[in-house]
Amino acid sequence: MNLTPTQVNDWIQFFQKEIPNHVTDTRWQHILRVASYAKELALAHGYEDPDKAYLAGLCHDITKQKKMDVHQSLFTEFNLDTNGIPFQALHAYSAPLFLKKNYDFYDQEIQSAIQNHTLGNPKPALLDQILYAADFLGSDYCYRNLDLEEWFQKTKENLDFGIFMKAFQTISFLMEKKEIIHPYTFYTYNQSLLSLKEI
Ligand SMILES: [Fe+2]
Ligand SMILES: [Fe+2]
Repeated sequence: MNLTPTQVNDWIQFFQKEIPNHVTDTRWQHILRVASYAKELALAHGYEDPDKAYLAGLCHDITKQKKMDVHQSLFTEFNLDTNGIPFQALHAYSAPLFLKKNYDFYDQEIQSAIQNHTLGNPKPALLDQILYAADFLGSDYCYRNLDLEEWFQKTKENLDFGIFMKAFQTISFLMEKKEIIHPYTFYTYNQSLLSLKEI
């Protein structure tokens, strides 16, 4: 069942107060930027409920700063197999479970967008793509970068630009640290680059 506009608004009000209890101020500032970018990109790319995109942004990193045992106990409780999911992506998988368990908050589209915001996925829905790109635009890396406004404009014109930038940035960062790169991230890099080259 889809969330009504009133429900979306009520949840936004609620999570604006609740999320800061779970993250540091720096992370909260990132979350607010991601939520705003998600709403803007939703408007630019015809996603039917821009406020719902904002809500997805608000919730996307709620478990980012939780310890391993919090993630693990959620995976056990909800019987979710996270074998092969790199450590830095665990929060994306635990966040929807945390939202369900603690607030009885669930929406299928938001769940998918949050779960896929770190690794990407082979068949992303529109909201998945919006949140993935918004997470890049709202990153500390972008916040410090003079090209941010240009990147935002380009992503408003073509969502694949922001998606490519995030996959590129993630892969470069992980290679630099000699970390494992999940196949979904390579896939996201290739798909977004191919579609940019087609234009
Ligand atoms: Fe995240
Ligand atoms: Fe994030």
